[in-house]
Amino acid sequence: MSPNGANGEAEVGSDGPRQKGKATPDTLQVGCIAFVTKDGHSRRAEILSIKETKSGRQFYCNFDNFNKRLDEWVPVSRIDFDQDVEWPNPDKDKQKDAKTKKTATVAKKSQPAKKTQKRVGKREQSVASDGQTSHPWTEFVESQSKADGNDKANASLELGATPNLGPDEMELDEDETPASAAKKEHAQSFSREQEIEKLRTSGSMTQNPAEISRIRNISKVEFGRYVLFPWYFSPYPEAFSQEDCIYICEFCLNYYGDFKSFSRHRMKCTLQHPPGNEIYRDDFVSFFEIDGRRQRTWCRNLCLLSKMFLDHKTLYYDVDPFLFYVMTTRDDRGSHLIGYFSKEKESADGYNVACILTMPQYQRKGYGRLLIQFSYELSKIEGKLGSPEKPLSDLGLLSYRQYWSENILDLLLSKSESGEKVTIEEIATRLAMTTQDVEHTLQALKMQVYHKGEHKVVIPDKLVEQRAKSRAKQKRQVDSQRIQWKPPVFTAASRTWGW
Ligand code: ACO
Ligand code: ZN
Repeated sequence: MSPNGANGEAEVGSDGPRQKGKATPDTLQVGCIAFVTKDGHSRRAEILSIKETKSGRQFYCNFDNFNKRLDEWVPVSRIDFDQDVEWPNPDKDKQKDAKTKKTATVAKKSQPAKKTQKRVGKREQSVASDGQTSHPWTEFVESQSKADGNDKANASLELGATPNLGPDEMELDEDETPASAAKKEHAQSFSREQEIEKLRTSGSMTQNPAEISRIRNISKVEFGRYVLFPWYFSPYPEAFSQEDCIYICEFCLNYYGDFKSFSRHRMKCTLQHPPGNEIYRDDFVSFFEIDGRRQRTWCRNLCLLSKMFLDHKTLYYDVDPFLFYVMTTRDDRGSHLIGYFSKEKESADGYNVACILTMPQYQRKGYGRLLIQFSYELSKIEGKLGSPEKPLSDLGLLSYRQYWSENILDLLLSKSESGEKVTIEEIATRLAMTTQDVEHTLQALKMQVYHKGEHKVVIPDKLVEQRAKSRAKQKRQVDSQRIQWKPPVFTAASRTWGW
């Protein structure tokens, strides 16, 4: 479970009563709850981190009952100091306090005296295509060439690389000598790096109580033709959080902290599609099946990339037990990643999807439906009933509910035309859905009625009208006839392909 609840939305300060009082920009500290303006409204927000920037102090806020992806850095001017703040709970926050200093220090360090970055708060703003933003490459190359002669700035941030930080970048306590501060800082940044390394390599992200994972670490990503603005923390190496923008190769998914090494990579990279078998192709999209065990690096890179947009899920660094079904769109440059879902090779709980993601530049265009449909088509071929792994995210729940409602309605409407009766079990089998998911959907749509001692399903006229409209809008579907796939057989020992 996410520390913020399954949907990433939580009430801030739900850890018991707190002392209240007036604060100033100087006394406001991490863990305080203050009133902060967001979208023209004054809202309660917990301060998760503080940093100094060229334009003044900034506070990283998590807003009451807002999804974590809407967390943002705000300047002093957006905080209402006329209202009381709630101070951190001294007992409960003791542990937090120990980390506070560290977080603030690191945040400061990661913001060298460059321009302050504008954070993007809304999902709609989380992506910009080439034409919509000024291209950051020129700016980045310029800043790189200015830094010529500076080993640190020039060090390319290849996989797992961490820069050496000089004592000039450290925040000093008044009674500390630079040497003791340097030693302490080194210990702190080392443990932070270690912590991130642990998050990246040991799997569970959301079950880790580390404060670190509560704060978005990557602000901007260049990915193919797109600029992406991540929503959540992802355990890329610590050094990457100090970059204004990171570069991810859209084909091999390798990541780079500077444009130079990224361009060098692009000259060499020969991959033009996901490294697996193409098991589906129509005029519009393709699906590739990739074995986590055979393509470890690629699949780990995919997990890191998707973690930036998925909060509530465990990040599986151990990708071996999973298959990845990756949807792409083709052009003359290659097959571009639209989205994917992962699936356990053997799920004890009968899940047919572990994680599902549409890349933000492709969201709300019907691709999520295609991904979900594909996962159920595979279950049909396997002859199994499937369901997505729980908990679902807020967007996951909306998309699944929509998919389930549409498909159950379509099936019932076709049955009612022919006057056939249908049971819940039959609906489940036809759609490869669990009976529980079928029942919940019928209940949510208020379609189940109890009449004269009998359970019946009725379809309200309003739903029929709504479905007619949405069907007219819905352009694409997976053509199940085109799926070229047999359920893979794995040897128990290796959980890889059994030949
Ligand atoms: N607001 C309201 N309704 C939405 C939204 C939204 N932001 N997103 C999807 N829906 C609902 C709508 O009913 C939509 O149909 P409509 O557009 O006709 O109204 C329906 O879901 C399907 O929308 P698609 O465009 O097909 O879905 P999309 O390509 O945007 O993908 C997905 C949905 C995969 C959940 C995407 O939002 C995503 O990647 N989110 C981030 C990662 C995530 O949360 N994944 C799910 C985690 S749960 C799990 O992994 C098992
Ligand atoms: Zn590449």
